[in-house]
Amino acid sequence: MSTSITLTRPDDWHLHLRDGAMLSAVLPETARDFARAIIMPNLVPPVVTGAQAAAYRDRIMAALPEGMAFEPLMTLYLTEDTDPADVAAAHASGLIKAVKLYPAGATTNSASGVRDFDKVRGVLEKMAEIGLTLCVHGEVTDNDIDIFDREAVFIDRVLDPVRRATPGLRVVMEHITTRDGVEYVRANDRDLGATITTHHLIINRNHILVGGIKPHYYCLPVAKREEHRLALRDAATSGDERFFLGTDSAPHTDANKETACGCAGCFTATNTMPLLAHVFEEEGALDKLEGFASKHGPAFYRLAENSDTLTLVKQNAPVAFPAKIDTADGPVTVFDPGFPVFWKTA
Ligand code: DOR
Ligand code: ZN
Repeated sequence: MSTSITLTRPDDWHLHLRDGAMLSAVLPETARDFARAIIMPNLVPPVVTGAQAAAYRDRIMAALPEGMAFEPLMTLYLTEDTDPADVAAAHASGLIKAVKLYPAGATTNSASGVRDFDKVRGVLEKMAEIGLTLCVHGEVTDNDIDIFDREAVFIDRVLDPVRRATPGLRVVMEHITTRDGVEYVRANDRDLGATITTHHLIINRNHILVGGIKPHYYCLPVAKREEHRLALRDAATSGDERFFLGTDSAPHTDANKETACGCAGCFTATNTMPLLAHVFEEEGALDKLEGFASKHGPAFYRLAENSDTLTLVKQNAPVAFPAKIDTADGPVTVFDPGFPVFWKTA
């Protein structure tokens, strides 16, 4: 017996596509299932200006295989030198859908991020005025704060003060990993949303560290205790419009993951939708998957929902997803949930 569900085609509200050979290799993995994605700007050098975002969008479209449809939703990387007028122009032209805030040093290629939040006040005020979303990597970077506490401390020390100082600013807390993040979103108004990744619904910190270190489960924010994973599952499957899918699929070559100082990132573009079907079915919430993956994101970003569909089929035998995808830079390991999955895209 096979079961199937058909959803409005999903979007990915947080995606790393990289550039060059890596871009060409990973883009089809996303475009196969997703119509659109919010494209992270943490290239080297970062995508800071409207002109850079336009050029990056053109490189993405040039890398898209013939016959595939995909719309990259571009973002700008917020620095202390970002010009509010450039941001406003890039938004007015329809080029960008968000600005990304990385606290300096928080993660991959975040050195140009923000240290002094007073220096970005003008940009944030302009964004509140024009209704442009701020996507936030919500972790403090202070050495004295334990890595497992960095999200919760960020909410108190940075996010809440910034939001209070900038009324009307629309914020997405990206890739929340804690009960604290879930509760902060639930306690606030409609100007605040959060993305949740596929992998944070599946792994907790034990998966990274018990029985040998698993570099392909290491990402930032790092997976937390089981109680936090359960809070994320509850939020994602609740039907609450403020929570939506942002995979944070972040490809790194195996050489850069399986090393003494490995890069952060889980590559989930290839199998995200089947994994989500598994998770939502496990939670008895398959009927909530379409909201999470296809409806809440467009509603937050005030965009139309996609008009076509994606069908997921449950088969009797486990699906064999590729273990790796090949890139000209070397292989990239596909996220392995560690359990058999019976769902696949039709
Ligand atoms: O795990 C992560 N990888 N988290 C991030 O915030 C950045 C990303 C990357 O770019 O590799
Ligand atoms: Zn990311």
